[in-house]
Amino acid sequence: MAITEQVQSQTLTAFAQDVLQGLSGAPKKLSSKYFYDEQGDKLFQQIMRMPEYYLTDCELEIFKNQKERILQAIGQNHFQLLELGAGDGMKTKVLLRHFLEQGADFQYQPIDISPNVLLELEESLRAELPQLNVKSLPGDYFKVLHELRGDSGQPKVVLFLGANIGNYVLEQARNFLRAVAQELNPGDLLLTGFDLKKDPEVVLRAYNDPAGITAAFNLNLLRRLNRELGANFELQDFKHWETYNPVSGETRSYIVSRKDQHVFIKALNRSFHFEAWEAINVELSKKYSVPELETLAGQAGFSIQQHFFDKNNYFVDSLWRVE
Ligand code: AVI
Repeated sequence: MAITEQVQSQTLTAFAQDVLQGLSGAPKKLSSKYFYDEQGDKLFQQIMRMPEYYLTDCELEIFKNQKERILQAIGQNHFQLLELGAGDGMKTKVLLRHFLEQGADFQYQPIDISPNVLLELEESLRAELPQLNVKSLPGDYFKVLHELRGDSGQPKVVLFLGANIGNYVLEQARNFLRAVAQELNPGDLLLTGFDLKKDPEVVLRAYNDPAGITAAFNLNLLRRLNRELGANFELQDFKHWETYNPVSGETRSYIVSRKDQHVFIKALNRSFHFEAWEAINVELSKKYSVPELETLAGQAGFSIQQHFFDKNNYFVDSLWRVE
């Protein structure tokens, strides 16, 4: 690396460095973790309310209809309930309410990188479930899990919902789950939401809705680059494109350049060339088969406790035990 590049990379934010790396490579890519600025959060809320985005409804149905079975499978009355990436807690509240009604003795500990998300969640929990014992933990999942090691001596039940695991490639998913297992004790539990392989048309519609909400969600990333890094992307010169590969289960989102163009990014002090119809890879949402996710559990150091499917078998919340 030349000295000037070294100096520049030292002063760049992690976001700017990722953008530099992602747009300098071939094929170009930008990480979907940057979708979630204020506008991105709002658009994601809209996605979760769309009829085509079945994932949220399926998981909600599982919790509403099988909350008794989930508590039974947890199999204990005293535990610490952790959630990785809590969001607005809409689905989790169904479980929390039921666990309280059944007299379970637990503290709910949502973990999220965003203190604001946690503040809003705590506020709504205080209003809706005033008897709930909540302790929100802002920070990186693994740092927080590490700090909690041997904390209360109570068994831990960790929630990782909403098919967030699908946003990792298989290898990353394996490493992520292995790292979670390593921060837990044998016998601790993990409940993970997996979106399952299904009719490709159903999958594609969820990520390519006719109202264009998903397109706006993806293209908002370019707006964020314009605002935060001083880029000059013209949004109308790019389009959202979605694919689903029924063999790998990979749903992939791309932002495609409609023409040959250059875009300047002030924070990086350089411009990037896009050929006509060149694509930026922005998101993976992997769909699993049941055998595939069972293999993943074993490789990550878990044994399968129980699966909870929705009525269409579109989605599963799978409860695993640390070996
Ligand atoms: C957050 N994640 C699980 C969503 C998904 O389905 O991959 C993000 C999303 N992207 C487009 N629509 C929803």
